[in-house]
Amino acid sequence: MQSSSTRHRFEVVSHDHKTIPQRLAVVTGGNRGIGLELDILDDNSRASLARYIKSRFGKLDILVNNAGVGGVAVDQDGLRALNIDPKLSGQAVDLIQSVIVQTYDEAVKCINTNYYGLKWVTEALLPLLKQSTSGESIVNTTSLRSELKRMPNEKLRNDMRNIKIWDDGTKHGWTVRIEVMLNEFLDDLKNERLEESVWPTMLPACSMSKTVVNLYTRILAKRHPEMRINCVHPGFVNTEINWNTGIISPEEGARGAVKVALLPQDGPTGCYFDQTELGEAW
Ligand SMILES: NC(=O)c1ccc[n+]([C@@H]2O[C@H](COP(=O)([O-])OP(=O)(O)OC[C@H]3O[C@@H](n4cnc5c(N)ncnc54)[C@H](OP(=O)(O)O)[C@@H]3O)[C@@H](O)[C@H]2O)c1
Repeated sequence: MQSSSTRHRFEVVSHDHKTIPQRLAVVTGGNRGIGLELDILDDNSRASLARYIKSRFGKLDILVNNAGVGGVAVDQDGLRALNIDPKLSGQAVDLIQSVIVQTYDEAVKCINTNYYGLKWVTEALLPLLKQSTSGESIVNTTSLRSELKRMPNEKLRNDMRNIKIWDDGTKHGWTVRIEVMLNEFLDDLKNERLEESVWPTMLPACSMSKTVVNLYTRILAKRHPEMRINCVHPGFVNTEINWNTGIISPEEGARGAVKVALLPQDGPTGCYFDQTELGEAW
């Protein structure tokens, strides 16, 4: 969850490297500790991560799906011209909108990484989470942008509130429904019809990807009541994703995920946390 020149795309965190740890966590998009240079969008990377954990530890207790992209490109010359003072970075939020460019390619990458990649990693590691003896927990990193009150399309907003519309109990029905919606969104974005079709227009790809992460979190939590499965908005954190215009440090931003990852077995599940507190996103 922070910048470093030697980045690892997965971080496997254990307290003790010699024995099977009491609690073992995987943090995607991590860059410290025993990292494995893997890509969540790569089948082989996910499979070899699962094989490694299975052979080395035989189980997994915590999965923090943190890897993500912002879904927009930035006009680098424009950004440099803004000459943002790092000490006043929080005040640059509105300023930065003028140099952000929403391209179709960035939107596709964003939906793929933030939703599909997260889902595929989760599916690859679910069998190992089921082997946990200390209470398994999944934390999906979401964003304030996912909150349904920001969704301009009233029908979609209402549909998103009702997970029965998406999950009819069949094995793949909900996956297909979400995919159809995301394809329609991307098609409208490609054809510059976002406003006309009433999709979010502020950071559209990021908003849609994280809204779907929330929906996925709720569906998964309903299907696996034995696990704690929640989503967390980390706050507006000073990282590369927002060109270091965030207002809190990566350490502060990580607090919510850590707290939620360590919730007791009878703690909340299928919930949204705004940093460390329960929030309302739907
Ligand atoms: N910062 C904020 O204000 C904020 C607000 C709301 C939500 N979030 C969410 O918080 C999470 C962490 O973001 P951050 O702020 O720490 O941004 P960041 O500094 O840009 O870190 C993103 C991390 O995700 C990794 N990643 C991207 N694509 C990946 C892929 N295909 N496979 C594996 N790893 C991949 C990146 O690795 P590489 O550098 O190697 O690509 C990097 O380690 C994201 O899900 C983001 O959407 C952040």
